[in-house]
Amino acid sequence: MVIAIDGPSGSGKSSTAKGVARRLGLAFLDTGSMYRACAWQAAEDGVSDAADLVALARAADLQVGTDPDDARVRMNGTDVTEAIRLPQISAEVSKVAVVPEVRGELVRRQREIVADTLAGGRGIVLEGRDTTTVVTPEADVRVLLVADPDARVARRHAELGEVVDVAAVSDQVIRRDRDDSTVAAFTEAADGVVVVDSTELTLEQVVDAVVALAGKVH
Ligand code: C5P
Repeated sequence: MVIAIDGPSGSGKSSTAKGVARRLGLAFLDTGSMYRACAWQAAEDGVSDAADLVALARAADLQVGTDPDDARVRMNGTDVTEAIRLPQISAEVSKVAVVPEVRGELVRRQREIVADTLAGGRGIVLEGRDTTTVVTPEADVRVLLVADPDARVARRHAELGEVVDVAAVSDQVIRRDRDDSTVAAFTEAADGVVVVDSTELTLEQVVDAVVALAGKVH
């Protein structure tokens, strides 16, 4: 069983994918964490040219955990699990993700993780921007998770804590939507992809919806 979930920033795809993985006993892959790890390394090295970013991605010793309760990320020997969530990485990550050869390299690694997991007799839930269309278009269940921008801003704000200004969070979410619109086509559902709108749903209800779709397979 392979379940692919795409959606914009703040749509709840990470929490949903983890919830589904826990419920069904599947592995979990946050593909965005791999782009974030490359953005972190680029900031460490002070590089931003496309050629340098490609070299960095190809040479990376990138380890991504697939346990939904402990998906730690290690980049070239450093545990970057927390560092890759910092606002400066969120602000820079699209510049790394937009480079086609970086995407090619990370998609290759993502497919490898999926294949290894399946070979080990376990299914996987993966989430990102292009998992339903590029990484695993053959997935058994493919979901585009959407939510109104206001709901996504409110969720991000809740995640970041009350100390952060809502207007600033709104700017971040809207800006990343815009930056990511050139990265991958995830705002419209491709053929065979089921749209789930989470605006009015609790996390539990979204997980239920995806688990129900998985139940219809085979
Ligand atoms: O999902 P998350 O917001 O952590 O992803 C971080 C960034 O990585 C996105 O803003 C996007 O630029 C990039 N990304 C991507 N393709 C994916 C997953 C993430 O380009 N499959």
